[in-house]
Amino acid sequence: MKLVVILPLCALFIAQTTSSESCVCELSSSEPLFPHDTLKTLQDSASDCNGNITPQKSTEMESLLLGLERRLPQLEEDVLTLEKENDGDMYGALSLHVIKNEIVEIMQMIDKLNSTAMRYKTLSADTSEKLQELKTEMQELEAFDTLQVVKRQQANQRLKRDLDQCKNGLHPTIPPTKDPQSSCPHGRFMNVSGPRVYTAGEYPGSYKFGAWGRDPKPEPGKESWYWLVMLTSSNVFSNYVRLYSSQSSLIVGVSVPGNILIHTSNPTTNTVQGPNVVLYGGALYYNCYNQDSVCQFNLTTKTVTTLKLPKGTRYNSKGNFCNVDECYPYTDLDLATDESGVWVVYTTTQDFGNMVLSKVEEGQPPTLGQTWRTSVYKQGVSNTFMACGILYATRYVSKDVEEIFYSFNPATGRERFNLGIFINKMAPKIYSLNYSPVDQMLHAYCESYMVSYKVQFEPIDNFYPVFV
Ligand SMILES: *[C@@H]1O[C@H](CO)[C@@H](O)[C@H](O)[C@H]1NC(C)=O
Ligand SMILES: *[C@@H]1O[C@H](CO)[C@@H](O)[C@H](O)[C@H]1NC(C)=O
Ligand SMILES: *[C@@H]1O[C@H](CO)[C@@H](O)[C@H](O)[C@H]1NC(C)=O
Repeated sequence: MKLVVILPLCALFIAQTTSSESCVCELSSSEPLFPHDTLKTLQDSASDCNGNITPQKSTEMESLLLGLERRLPQLEEDVLTLEKENDGDMYGALSLHVIKNEIVEIMQMIDKLNSTAMRYKTLSADTSEKLQELKTEMQELEAFDTLQVVKRQQANQRLKRDLDQCKNGLHPTIPPTKDPQSSCPHGRFMNVSGPRVYTAGEYPGSYKFGAWGRDPKPEPGKESWYWLVMLTSSNVFSNYVRLYSSQSSLIVGVSVPGNILIHTSNPTTNTVQGPNVVLYGGALYYNCYNQDSVCQFNLTTKTVTTLKLPKGTRYNSKGNFCNVDECYPYTDLDLATDESGVWVVYTTTQDFGNMVLSKVEEGQPPTLGQTWRTSVYKQGVSNTFMACGILYATRYVSKDVEEIFYSFNPATGRERFNLGIFINKMAPKIYSLNYSPVDQMLHAYCESYMVSYKVQFEPIDNFYPVFV
């Protein structure tokens, strides 16, 4: 909130004195003085407001509610059991004891929910009051803008934005091919929301590297399932997928279907290496241990088939994603899902470290589909994901912000380097990032936290080409 103020120099009198040696200048302004103190106070209040309302706070309630949602049916079940068993013997007494404990815990949760809700109510009332005050005071300050500097700046900004839009619109767009990958049912990728889910899950803080999400093409009956792969050995390797029957069970950490083991050893041939894995059509796709290959693990048959990537593919932590200070170990291969299936992002020696994108055709065994080369250096990127047939890449801006800066449309070959879409992070490093076409969510695994964001698409009319 910056105000540029120019005091009009309404009157400048030069008073000639009698002495020829010295002269006195007198500045007199008919305008009131600009209240710098008020502006400073305003700025402080505004940053207070920003500090008080954090994304962590908004997900706290949701987690509590989900917890309650799970505990109540359990209580009901226990009460039913008690009713059945209540023949006055020891089992009845035992069940009663369990239920008493259950009720005490639920009461504690309700109390916590109540106090959290009360706190939010107060916070939100306070904040909206403060915002109203800020607005009024800003309007008063605007009165000082006698030269209409601020107003004109705002008008200029609007004009500049229109001009930019105009310029972008005039880009010679390559006519869209008939490729179905180039059309997106949701419109154009515009922005991402704040965090929608933020949870430490079942093993808070235990495994810094991993990935989680939803199967975009689930088997019948598994539509609401979530999966989680944590790199449980040396932060690099894993040998199982953990399944949850719903988002709330993932948040409260109750894994009902449990683990599906790839192999009893970890690591060994064809187990998981590196965090950027995805689940698609009931199979897990990942970088196979110690190989330049994509592994496909069929969760039903528990068998692994492999897909060898082109000669020269960098692996074993030689072609990683990086931020400004460090590279993320064993992120050579980034598997991705979108509306059109499974993709893999990697780099090769012959591409001098630039990102390469290949379609993975999900047969048995999977095969390598078309391949595209990009002009962005993989180490200059912190992660990638696919959405609606377009590749997006992110870079690290600060510990709180990641930027989706780059896009590549394989249907047209068009690259963009200036997307400027920002992600609010809940932990500094995003080790895996993937798009879920079922609900248009981005799932991020960041230093043991699971965070999701909603992708906001801009509806466009059917005749307008998508040229992101
Ligand atoms: C919630 O908290 C308020 C104030 O602490 C209290 O007056 C109210 O009875 C509580 N409600 C429940 C349902 O516990
Ligand atoms: C994008 O979304 C974020 C978070 O919801 C919001 O703060 C920001 O203003 C949005 N940006 C645009 C250009 O709409
Ligand atoms: C997994 O194996 C089953 C049984 O052979 C098969 O029906 C299914 O299509 C396989 N899934 C994938 C993704 O290959």
